[in-house]
Amino acid sequence: MRTEQPTPLADVRETAAATAVAHPNIALIKYWGKSDEKLFLPRTDSLSMTLSVFPTATRVRLAPDAEQDTVVFNGLPATGEAERRIVAFLDLVRERAGRPVRAVVDTENTVPTGAGLASSASGFAALAVAASAAYGLGLDARGLSRLARRGSGSASRSIFGGFAVWHAGTPDAGPEEADARSYAEPVDAAGLDPALVVAVVNAGPKEVSSRTAMRRTMDTSPLYEPWAESSKADLADMRAALKRADLEAVGEIAERNALGMHATMLAARPAVRYMSPASLTVIDSVLQLRRDGVPAYVTMDAGPNVKVLCRRVDTDRVASVVREAAAGGSVHVAVPGPGARLLDEGV
Ligand code: DP6
Repeated sequence: MRTEQPTPLADVRETAAATAVAHPNIALIKYWGKSDEKLFLPRTDSLSMTLSVFPTATRVRLAPDAEQDTVVFNGLPATGEAERRIVAFLDLVRERAGRPVRAVVDTENTVPTGAGLASSASGFAALAVAASAAYGLGLDARGLSRLARRGSGSASRSIFGGFAVWHAGTPDAGPEEADARSYAEPVDAAGLDPALVVAVVNAGPKEVSSRTAMRRTMDTSPLYEPWAESSKADLADMRAALKRADLEAVGEIAERNALGMHATMLAARPAVRYMSPASLTVIDSVLQLRRDGVPAYVTMDAGPNVKVLCRRVDTDRVASVVREAAAGGSVHVAVPGPGARLLDEGV
């Protein structure tokens, strides 16, 4: 990340810059499907754990003389869809701030490329915090969560550390009310000592984006509504399991919710299948771990990589089994991580 030299204090407002850091999160109760695509309102509530690894750092610097935004991603200019999404997000921030000034966005992402670790979650959470500070929106954590949601739904949860629930809100209310009520907030999980072992079995780009896949699933899968309905019960059970720090129950509920989500996609027309033979090999190794008495549970997102929830004390054993199963792939260990935060603010 480049650090700008301080400029003279001619007009601090117009040279404002801010840097923020955020971490990815992995959902234990999944977000899959929107009730409003423009506002990024989810069809169901979801619940996640923010990770301790793979932070994204983003600097937003206002550029009063520029006619366009500049977006730099890991030192290279962003192009195509990635750039379009960031500029659209900045447009939203500008509209709210009532300040048309363009910006330079410089992002350093430490997620290994294609690790399936929701880099859009850490990316838009960091961007929301940095852009909100640079444009002077003065948002609290809830406001930042609502803003981050408009970049990528799952980013609403990365504003918070540890465990967070993202409320679907009231999609049937008018757009303003619905928008106001869909945000994430922290969930207490004191006493739980979890780790997430991430097996990257394929680092290549996915064929169908999660955005497209969730739309197709909602539109065509006969299994979607039953899953969405059962997800409500999963969330209630998950909250109770977190409260009593019951890792086995947390893992079982997370696993059934994720596999159910993948079932909805398999039943979409045409089917969306993210699981590969390598994913199944890892899943089988986790089932074997369970038969051997180690509580370990899988979850998967819009990609073939497998995340394994276990007790922190079992991490070495789980990681070594998963590493062997994910032959040739890489394995990373995360524990609950911090929420998004501002690193510096000024000129
Ligand atoms: C499978 O948040 O990436 O990871 O809101 O369209 O940007 P958009 O989608 P995104 O979807 C994440 C889907 C998921 C499940 C989850 O994180 O809850």
